[in-house]
Amino acid sequence: MAKSLFNFEAEFKLGIELMDNEHLRLVEMLNQVYNLLADGQKAEACQYFRQMLSSYVHAHFAHEERFMEIVGFPQIEDHKKIHENFKKSFLASMPLLESYDDATFRKALTDTFTWIINHIGKTDRKYAAYYLAKNPAAQ
Ligand SMILES: [Fe+2]
Ligand SMILES: [Fe+2]
Repeated sequence: MAKSLFNFEAEFKLGIELMDNEHLRLVEMLNQVYNLLADGQKAEACQYFRQMLSSYVHAHFAHEERFMEIVGFPQIEDHKKIHENFKKSFLASMPLLESYDDATFRKALTDTFTWIINHIGKTDRKYAAYYLAKNPAAQ
């Protein structure tokens, strides 16, 4: 049975179903990479990280930015910039992964994991708070 690195439900639920589902999927994908690595399937872990996770990150950011636009979140431009910076550093780490070098891969994975968890827990929470304050019935 696959292990999870942390309890998503307890700590990172925003109360907006679509976003929560996508965040949960992101975290599952990161857990999947860790589990493949733990099983010694390094090439598969690396491929999953580069393809599945990166395309999902891009899709999620686009969905989230559309959501913020629809609900009129005032700090949308700041949030978009944060996404943009992450996409750049995520892309920059991709060529480094081609060597399947253990230390490089683990660092990229850890950095990505840390960034995503902090982003959901802090930055994403801001648009959620704004939306839920305006739409208490949505909770
Ligand atoms: Fe998000
Ligand atoms: Fe975000």
